[in-house]
Amino acid sequence: MATRLVAAAAVLMFFTVVPEVAATKWTVGGGKFWNNNVNYTVWAQGKHFYLGDWLYFVYDRNQMDVLEVNKTDYEKCNSDHPLRNWTRGAGRDVVPLNETRHYYIISGKGFCYGGLKLAIRVENPPPPPSASPIKDKSSAPRTIYGGQFVLPAVFTIGAIWDAFIWFW
Ligand SMILES: *[C@@H]1O[C@H](CO)[C@@H](O)[C@H](O)[C@H]1NC(C)=O
Ligand SMILES: *[C@@H]1O[C@H](CO)[C@@H](O)[C@H](O)[C@H]1NC(C)=O
Ligand SMILES: *[C@@H]1O[C@H](CO)[C@@H](O)[C@H](O)[C@H]1NC(C)=O
Ligand SMILES: *[C@@H]1O[C@H](CO)[C@@H](O)[C@H](O)[C@H]1NC(C)=O
Repeated sequence: MATRLVAAAAVLMFFTVVPEVAATKWTVGGGKFWNNNVNYTVWAQGKHFYLGDWLYFVYDRNQMDVLEVNKTDYEKCNSDHPLRNWTRGAGRDVVPLNETRHYYIISGKGFCYGGLKLAIRVENPPPPPSASPIKDKSSAPRTIYGGQFVLPAVFTIGAIWDAFIWFW
């Protein structure tokens, strides 16, 4: 009987797990990366950048860099006083999008004038479809689907197998 209850509980657990969307790591520019001759306004069009996502910049470390600036300096391509220098030196930089606001990122060294500049707006992720209403959206958890899904699934299969052996 106990085993059957465990199996039932496990089945219930399995079906009440709410799948959530994993955070996205955006490779800026897609296959063209952080480069000349890419229009990053076009690249960002139609994309939704959510709190918790990352931007991943891949480029020639001897040429470009990754500087966060304000709106004015983004428009003017002024890299003299960046808000933040995300350049680490390897030509592979990650920018965590941990605030819901606009992010303005340019390359200095003249590349911004050629179009190497990115402006995006970071939004709160949409609430999961079947979750109970949460007033403060920014506190909604965003976890990796697999981590929650796999364990109950294994447990369920094991429990059902146990129940089968003992009762049928
Ligand atoms: C951006 O920074 C520059 C220089 O620090 C300043 O003159 C300008 O007013 C700032 N623009 C905004 C929109 O904050
Ligand atoms: C940004 O930081 C990198 C690595 O510390 C450094 O080499 C580079 O000169 C900095 N760039 C600016 C514009 O401050
Ligand atoms: C977001 O991350 C940056 C860089 O790691 C950090 O300076 C900033 O305080 C963080 N903001 C929040 C709201 O956690
Ligand atoms: C990039 O594309 C946008 C939208 O089509 C356009 O308004 C903008 O002028 C383009 N930028 C460059 C540098 O060509």
